[in-house]
Amino acid sequence: CEKVALEDLQFSYKGILFPATLSSPETLEALKSFEARSDDVILIGYPKTGTNWLDEIVRELESTDAKYTEEEMKETINVEKELQIFPRLEFGDPGKFERMKKLPSRRIILTHLPPHLLPRSFFQSKAKILLLVRNPKDTAVSYYHFNNNLPMLPSFASWDEFFTAFMNGRLSYGSYFDHLVEWNKCIDNERIMVISYEELKENQIVGMKKIAAFFGFSLSEEDFPRIVKKTSFQAMKEKSKETHGKFGDILFRKGVVGSWRGYFSKAQNEETDRKFHDCLRGTKLAARMKY
Ligand code: A3P
Repeated sequence: CEKVALEDLQFSYKGILFPATLSSPETLEALKSFEARSDDVILIGYPKTGTNWLDEIVRELESTDAKYTEEEMKETINVEKELQIFPRLEFGDPGKFERMKKLPSRRIILTHLPPHLLPRSFFQSKAKILLLVRNPKDTAVSYYHFNNNLPMLPSFASWDEFFTAFMNGRLSYGSYFDHLVEWNKCIDNERIMVISYEELKENQIVGMKKIAAFFGFSLSEEDFPRIVKKTSFQAMKEKSKETHGKFGDILFRKGVVGSWRGYFSKAQNEETDRKFHDCLRGTKLAARMKY
């Protein structure tokens, strides 16, 4: 199963696998010369860390600050569609980066990539980067279901088979542990802020206030509960037919913390803890993840 997947569904670029129907080595090469703008709002997260949720939250915060109307927000999405700007920076054809120059500021840019595959301009411009992290165990369970339900990704005969692939990084976007290690190297950059899925779940208003302060968005006190309601799991799931088509039910699966408990064996739990500690013990990123 995995053999077919590796050959047909994914390609390898600089040692990391990518979904072949969504990206290409040419697009990843072209991305190197992408020019970030100082007011770009950059969102980063390994797949299944809650990136669609963060994207929605940040779009709401940004549009409230900019005082766009619902109509203007729809218009922005239409322009993105017209220019064939796929919802992840690394998706689509190599020509998309030229088309992205036509997007008005502020552009909200979402990617799953590790820092070494991103354009230098991300780090040389004044653009700010928000890094989303999630407990690796919940991330793994979410990715297991995603792989098994999306035809464009490989399926796995069992959880155990998936777990081995997850631990060895033999999935699209490679190892989550490597992703975290690479981002941890950038953690002292003051233009990078880390937010965790768990802290957003625990207190979304506090999390959103941190995000708004980081990007310099100005909102009034009553905006925050309105955005919490609009970006709740239930609200996003209900709207997903419109926003994500038939992938909606696959994307908005459970939306909780701790669903890994029904999947990990004792040995798998210990192996994951060991790997996390070997990779990130004592780091600032591990502290932010409260692992
Ligand atoms: P689960 O599979 O654990 O339910 P991504 O958007 O990066 O693909 O991540 C998907 C995960 O985020 C899924 O986790 C999904 O349910 C969760 N998610 C999506 N929207 C959410 C929301 N509004 N609130 C909480 N979790 C959400």
